[in-house]
Amino acid sequence: NYHKHMRQPQRNVEKYLEPFRLSLEKLKEVSVRLKKDLIRGLGKHSHHRAAVKMLPTFVRATPDGTEKGDYLALDLGGTNFRVLYVRVVEEQQKVVKMDSKICSIPQEMMLGTGEQLFDHIAQCLGEFLESQDLKGQTLPLGFTFSFPCEQKEIDKSILIRWTKGFSCSGVEGQDVVKLLKEAIHRRGDYDIGSVAMVNDTVGTMMSCGYRDQSCEIGMIIGTGTNACYMEEIKNVKRVEGEDGRMCINTEWGGFGDDGSLKDILTEFDEVVDQTSINPGVHTFEKMISGMYLGEIVRLLLVKMAEDKLLFKGETSEALLTPGQFETKYISEIEEPDSGLENAQKILTALGLNWDPVDACVVRLVCDTISSRSARLCAAALATISNRIRVNRGLDHLKTTVGVDGTVYRKHPNFSEELQAAVRLLAPKCDITFLVSEDGSGKGAAMVTAVAQTTCILPPSQQGATNPAAKKKKSVRT
Ligand code: BGC
Repeated sequence: NYHKHMRQPQRNVEKYLEPFRLSLEKLKEVSVRLKKDLIRGLGKHSHHRAAVKMLPTFVRATPDGTEKGDYLALDLGGTNFRVLYVRVVEEQQKVVKMDSKICSIPQEMMLGTGEQLFDHIAQCLGEFLESQDLKGQTLPLGFTFSFPCEQKEIDKSILIRWTKGFSCSGVEGQDVVKLLKEAIHRRGDYDIGSVAMVNDTVGTMMSCGYRDQSCEIGMIIGTGTNACYMEEIKNVKRVEGEDGRMCINTEWGGFGDDGSLKDILTEFDEVVDQTSINPGVHTFEKMISGMYLGEIVRLLLVKMAEDKLLFKGETSEALLTPGQFETKYISEIEEPDSGLENAQKILTALGLNWDPVDACVVRLVCDTISSRSARLCAAALATISNRIRVNRGLDHLKTTVGVDGTVYRKHPNFSEELQAAVRLLAPKCDITFLVSEDGSGKGAAMVTAVAQTTCILPPSQQGATNPAAKKKKSVRT
């Protein structure tokens, strides 16, 4: 029986798992460190060196339901590249996806030249416009580009660095909008209207904002992790202005890149970092997001097998191969009913010689790694909601966070664990979690729509290409 099997190995494996178990006290410490980093990132003179970049997005208002029009949206940054044709319908307060197309991006292209990548994007968009009979129009376009960008304007966005699986040459330090337009012009068979650049967190916040006006945080826990929130402009020292709010893309994945998380990093985290395509950066992300969780588990299992605590001291070729223990296995193994059975199937497929105790231990390892991820996210989210609360001089804040990402959506108890920890870490905040409906697609259209009506585009572009977009004087802040 389960417990009889568990007792003995649990005692032995605990020394491997203990470094991953973060107490509430530790999480509070982490939250205090992030709080300081948020301030450093916002500062005029300190932001250059800040690990948490706190990037202005030039999105100054959340939707108020009066935007409308037809838009194109591009979505690059998760597993696939997508093109969407989206209609924002004012009367029904909704965003309708008219049609969309997915184009896969082969791994060679993720590591190839920027020109190849943008040509591929332009080709995919061209084929889509052709199929929709839209080539003659120049629709405004929202570009969800889920990487850290220094935005100069809503339509000027310099890539700071690639993250996740991407590393195309010649793009870092360049304006992504320019690269996209150049690729389209190289073809010469269609054109696009004004462009609004959107991080996926911002798209997620905006798409939820359409349904819930108090949605002022967007969070992604998928291949990568990040969050954005509405900050008082007077605190964003790099942007002129005193009144109102601007959405800040925190890029919290970079938390710890200055060494501030050294005390909680394990030897396994170090290996994950060193063997990644971007060593030394996105420390926090590498402890949390889907791109890395499976790999942490794999490294632990290898170590425990080598130390004769698992699989009769044997490994397998698959287990020894980086990337072979997929993050989705963690969700499958933690499934409440079928988890142990799934574990057995997965271990068999990995060519391991397991017994029932091994399956239980593997499940315990998965649970430990996903819990750490959820609790670290909770600490970061608590920091942000507390900041919003204090910014507004409130004793109690009621707010909504729009969330997306495979880890949050697919793992059986990640969201519960995250929410439980946030309640403890931010007791004065009452947070509603809203899973976003296609934030990267519809949210991008929302940002473009809001951009057209609230003066964040240069005046020459406002509404010019989309007569349906309604002009609006006052913005909700
Ligand atoms: C990127 C962020 C993005 C996040 C989630 C990170 O790697 O730096 O810009 O929001 O992944 O996709």
